[in-house]
Amino acid sequence: IGQNTVQLEFDSKQTIVINKHIYGHFAEHLGRCIYEGFYVGESNTTVPHTKGIRNDVVEALKKLQIPNLRWPGGCFADTYHWKDGIGSKESRPTIVNNWWGGVTEDNSFGTHDFLDMCELLETEPYLAGNVGSGEVQELADWVQYVNFSGRGPMSDLRKLNGRQEPWSVKFWGVGNEAWGCGGNMTADYYSDIYRKYATFMSDWGNSGGLYRVASGASSDDYNWTETLMKKIPSSLMKGVALHHYAVIDWSKKGPSIDFTEEQYFKTMKSAWFMNELVEKHSAIMDKYDPKGKIDLVVDEWGGWYEVEPGTNPGFLYQQNTMRDAMIAGMTLNIFNNHARRVKMANLAQTINVLQAVILTEGEKMLLTPTYHVMEMYKVHQDATLIPLKLTSEDFTFKDEHIPAVSVSASQNSSGQTHISLVNIDPKVAKKISVDMGEINAKAVNGRILTAKKLRDYNSFLEPQKISPQQFTAAVLNGGKIEVEIPPFSVIVLQVN
Ligand code: AHR
Repeated sequence: IGQNTVQLEFDSKQTIVINKHIYGHFAEHLGRCIYEGFYVGESNTTVPHTKGIRNDVVEALKKLQIPNLRWPGGCFADTYHWKDGIGSKESRPTIVNNWWGGVTEDNSFGTHDFLDMCELLETEPYLAGNVGSGEVQELADWVQYVNFSGRGPMSDLRKLNGRQEPWSVKFWGVGNEAWGCGGNMTADYYSDIYRKYATFMSDWGNSGGLYRVASGASSDDYNWTETLMKKIPSSLMKGVALHHYAVIDWSKKGPSIDFTEEQYFKTMKSAWFMNELVEKHSAIMDKYDPKGKIDLVVDEWGGWYEVEPGTNPGFLYQQNTMRDAMIAGMTLNIFNNHARRVKMANLAQTINVLQAVILTEGEKMLLTPTYHVMEMYKVHQDATLIPLKLTSEDFTFKDEHIPAVSVSASQNSSGQTHISLVNIDPKVAKKISVDMGEINAKAVNGRILTAKKLRDYNSFLEPQKISPQQFTAAVLNGGKIEVEIPPFSVIVLQVN
């Protein structure tokens, strides 16, 4: 075991807050995420529900304190016509989900269902508007429908449909992946279109103003961010999105459980690339927006593998092993450490799709290792970032290297320090010494998420196989905390 060190650089004058919205989620009309995952229908008699929304899911997500939920897509958003999803459920038209499995749905989960569900979840909605196949008026109408308290054609319609008070939705995406499924646009063309849409998305007196997010770059398309920053004024755009998935190779994504050592390394390398992406996109934003008025919003991230054998390829259902816990722990450390510019992010996707936090099978539900990482990390939400210097040994495969250890730290309003540590090395434990600097540490305790095998996962037969355990092996030694992180583990320490 070699030496890894962390130097905490706490500075009471430093006030970068880790925005809780970094811990956001994403629910698309895709496979079994909305239908079966969140919504089982109001007449369901086998799964306990509240107006069709699963009670077990609400309870689990409330424990995560999810700060926001993005909906209805994804690619689906640019095919979605919100007016088809309001009013009496019996008379709603159907829609064919062209992007995801070609299935026909009945629009029974619409605007009221989603926004009422967000109230149940105590989370903020983040609506993605249809720019690709929609109209400016259609999106402008949606904003009036959900946000206007006065008299107007759309707000009156909302009242007629049973909701008097507006929901006051702050977060709005103006299209999704405009460079691809959202319309195959160029950055120049989209910027112009964006300006038009954003202009007509009136605030309707919504407190604090709308938070409009421009559809962002795919991974390292830096020209996309540069063009948007150059062409769109900050008065119209509060956030610029970025999408990056931890994927080995889009044409050979590999299995979600029985991955090889090489596939594990490549997934970690792709996940670690997020660090470079966030730094480079932020540097472009710094050039055009030195005062930091516009935020980087990573509204899709996570691991993407081949679907589970025997499932619909268009439904993107995959299992979730300790590899996914590594992606989650490492990525959230990256976001925390870049909290100056990254103010919001959305894991893709909440239930039964890609790197899900929850899987369901009929009336059964399980929490994935990714869920547990999000739950352990919730202590960082809205806490003050503690900058740090880290030296880490490498995780090496053949002649490629990435850092084996990742760390982030924060201090909450009661003065407690939390340090999250991840060792992605699949075989070797890492000894790490954390120099607390100016922080006077009196006691340390923590929790760990690990498993017997890297490929372990929670199944419906063994739903509790992986869950956080108390961790008492961190030792306070003068102003330092000495800890050994087992292979493929996530630890969150609480220091009083
Ligand atoms: O999350 C699945 C899909 O990935 C989304 O619909 C799309 O935005 C992205 O390509």
